[in-house]
Amino acid sequence: MIPLPLPRIRSDVLSVEQALAYRRSHRRFRDEPLSISDVSQILWAAYGLSLPVKGFLTCPSAGATYPLELYLVVGTEDVELGDGEFLEPGAYRYLPHSHVLTYVKPGHVKEEVYRACLSQKWVLNARASIVIAANYERTTRYYGERGVRYVILEAGHCAQNIYLEATALGLGAVAIGAFYDDELAEAIGLREEVKPVYMVSIGVPLRRYFISEESLHEHIKINRRRKGLL
Ligand SMILES: Cc1cc2nc3c(=O)[nH]c(=O)nc-3n(C[C@H](O)[C@H](O)[C@H](O)COP(=O)(O)O)c2cc1C
Repeated sequence: MIPLPLPRIRSDVLSVEQALAYRRSHRRFRDEPLSISDVSQILWAAYGLSLPVKGFLTCPSAGATYPLELYLVVGTEDVELGDGEFLEPGAYRYLPHSHVLTYVKPGHVKEEVYRACLSQKWVLNARASIVIAANYERTTRYYGERGVRYVILEAGHCAQNIYLEATALGLGAVAIGAFYDDELAEAIGLREEVKPVYMVSIGVPLRRYFISEESLHEHIKINRRRKGLL
C-alpha cells in the first residue's frame, strides 16, 4: 500500500483553455522519469475524490455507479519517489477514496502491456500507463444493456481528465485503444469480472505543442473566408 502525495487543487499551472489548446497525443518521450507527485496529481484528476460526503469523483459517472478501476503500470526507475528511490516495476491499483496505490502485480508487466498493445513502441518509451478497466455490472445492474455504453463513455471522460492534467503539468500523453483485451487483462492481473476499456500512456514529451491565440484566430478567420463567411 503506497500513500500518494495529497492532490493539489490550488495551482498555478495552465488554465483549462490552455490545456485544451496545447493537448496533443505524444508518442516521443524524453529519457526522464516521472515524479510521484505528478503521477498522484494525474490519478486524482482521472478518478479522484472530489465530493467526499457522497463519495463522488472528478469523473462524471452514470448514476454515480463508478464502474471504473484504474491501474498504473510502470517499469524499472520510471517513477521517482525522491531520495533516489523509485516505484517498484509492475501494476498498481489506484484507490480513489484513500488516494493510495496497492501493488497488485510485480515484475515485467510493462513489457507484457506493450505486447498486448500491438507493440506500439510509445507504450514502452512512456514512463507510466494508466489502464482504465471496468466492472460493467456495477452500471448494467441499474441500466441494463444501455449501461455498457455509459461505462465506455465514462472511460472517455476519465481519459480526457488524464490528457488535460498531463498537459497542464507539462507532460505528454497518448490514448491507447488498440490492444488485445484478454492479453492486457492478463498482463495486469485483472479479476474475471473486470475488463480493460482504454489506456493512456504518459511521459515527458520530446517537444511540447503550443499555439498562440493570435495564430488560432488567424486560422479560424482563414477558414471563414474559405467558406465565404467573411
Ligand atoms: C478511442 C481512441 C483510441 C486511440 N487509440 C490509439 C492507439 O491505440 N495508439 C495511438 O498511438 N493513438 C491512439 N489514439 C490517439 C489518436 O490517434 C489521436 O487522438 C489523433 O491522432 C488526434 O491527435 P491529437 O490527440 O494530438 O489531437 C486513440 C484515440 C482515441 C480517441
